[in-house]
Amino acid sequence: MPHLLNSYVKTLDMLITNIGVLAGIDSERHLFLRGKEMGKLGIAENAWLRVDNGLFSGWGSMSDCPETSDRIVDAKGGYVLPSFCDSHTHIVYAGSREREFIDKINGLSYEEIAKRGGGILNSADLLHETSEDELYRQAMIRAREIMSMGTGCVEIKSGYGLTTADELKMLRVIARISESVPMKVKATFLGAHAVGRLYKDRQNEYVNLVCEEMIPAVAAEGLADFVDVFCDTGFFTVEDTDRILSAASKYGLRPKIHANELAVSGGVQVGVKHKALSVDHLERIGDEEIAILSKNQTVATMLPGASFFLGMPYGPARKAIDSDAVVALASDYNPGSSPSGNMRMVMSLGCIKMKLTPDEAINATTINGAYAMGESENYGSIAPGKIANFYITAPMPSIDFYPYAYETPLIKEVYLKGETI
Ligand code: NIG
Ligand code: FE
Repeated sequence: MPHLLNSYVKTLDMLITNIGVLAGIDSERHLFLRGKEMGKLGIAENAWLRVDNGLFSGWGSMSDCPETSDRIVDAKGGYVLPSFCDSHTHIVYAGSREREFIDKINGLSYEEIAKRGGGILNSADLLHETSEDELYRQAMIRAREIMSMGTGCVEIKSGYGLTTADELKMLRVIARISESVPMKVKATFLGAHAVGRLYKDRQNEYVNLVCEEMIPAVAAEGLADFVDVFCDTGFFTVEDTDRILSAASKYGLRPKIHANELAVSGGVQVGVKHKALSVDHLERIGDEEIAILSKNQTVATMLPGASFFLGMPYGPARKAIDSDAVVALASDYNPGSSPSGNMRMVMSLGCIKMKLTPDEAINATTINGAYAMGESENYGSIAPGKIANFYITAPMPSIDFYPYAYETPLIKEVYLKGETI
């Protein structure tokens, strides 16, 4: 029985036929999946998929395929999946930091590099000297890169400005990217990523600046959807975070925060207290934090690419799912701790290092990522009326093959808003 959104739709934009497996179908339109629900991926074998006006409009079995149309794409047995939803990135930055990569090879830790004035402050110095146009040019290369690797919805943070002017510059670049690409872009203000150099040893005054000057300025230009704070040892305290999230809530900016990457920071608790959409990183959470996440809708977003790159422990995603939390996986694409936005790799690390099943890892990188950006009504699964962001793979023996063959270039064609990119 074919599933059609609207049988009166006359203009058939596109029909994809001979799909080996259509994966990520969700007729029930879950906004997120939690716990055991994450282990079930909706699939249809030997299927067709229809797109009208850039939206998914129906699917069914090839034995029941609609009439021919002007625009038929033969998937030739390849799989079709909803685009990845990468809910945590920092892709607007200037230059790169491979020098620190060498420092790390030589034994320095992330915190030691930060203490020596490297890390985030290093990126802030470079960003300050980079024009908005040049920053846009560099960031667009990364935006195109992640689209070609299957990402269809992305969150991008500021946080390498650390002055009001430079934070606004970053957020304007994010807005320009959003206007230039078919991928959906959400913007997060992360003024509290590190204490700006001018405020060295004056952390409290910097937090005042974030609350009293930056947040109002960002809100006045409507440049951010969310607010973030790096709530961790050596960066911002729970009290700082509490103040910043309270200030941002006056402007309707919902939190998505960096928490528990370097220590058991109290970040999960303060995030949940402020009804954060997500708390991210979570390499260092214990049973207490897992119990809190299991009882709330705040997404536990884990970033296995950062653990891989920095040699940190992986977040306890398996335990969090078993405890009924809503778990998402994201890339954290940034110059210091995760210089890659490859969500396929993130999905595979979820399986290999965090012991998620392929179905769980796909759900964590699609629908739950979309929810962590407040966008799961429109993205993250194949459901009637959702934006037609998807890709076609080469034929595969099973869905389990997808995260297993983690290096094989399986993604063949990417469609965003129903159009090839
Ligand atoms: O998510 N942890 C904080 N921020 C980034 C790293 C930023 C950087 O090193 O440039 C992260 O890992
Ligand atoms: Fe991050």
